[in-house]
Amino acid sequence: SLEKRGCDHIFFVGFLGAGKSTLARNLGHMFNRRYVDTDRLVERRAGKTVTQIFESDGEAAFRILETKVLKSLSTGRSLLVSCGGGIVETPCNIELIHELGYCVYLDGDIDDSLRQIRRSDTRPDFRSESHAADLLRHRRPLYQQAADLTLDIRGKSFSEVGFECAELL
Ligand code: S3P
Repeated sequence: SLEKRGCDHIFFVGFLGAGKSTLARNLGHMFNRRYVDTDRLVERRAGKTVTQIFESDGEAAFRILETKVLKSLSTGRSLLVSCGGGIVETPCNIELIHELGYCVYLDGDIDDSLRQIRRSDTRPDFRSESHAADLLRHRRPLYQQAADLTLDIRGKSFSEVGFECAELL
């Protein structure tokens, strides 16, 4: 099992469209554990949507809020935390995650992510597929560096991934 460190949150990281939020929510329901999503916590703090923050304040401002949100998780009950796909872009976030708990990287297929991105309208700046593919190439080593555990989710259904994670809890 995954117990370690001062806090024992479980952080899910991975690229946009990997299913981090759905997984954290489903596992939360199954195991009666609280789950949070860093994007939603950032939105609550800012009083704006992620899209609005990117548009009006820029990515750097968003990343600062993301770090504040992580720091705010340093007390309290253990949580399942679904992280924004870019959380690993800020080096100190990886350290924070390691201090606060255990990190699971949902390592998915770029084409699945691109399909998800095409379906969502929240990330107009991710529409360019070559941009998204470049970002993923840049981030994959960061996710791997952050991860205590990498789950290969390629070709797996939600319930298969859920089952594999459930075994860890
Ligand atoms: C981002 C991913 C989004 C959100 C923000 C930035 C990224 O989160 O944090 O739009 O840089 O990859 P999800 O991965 O939960 O969609």
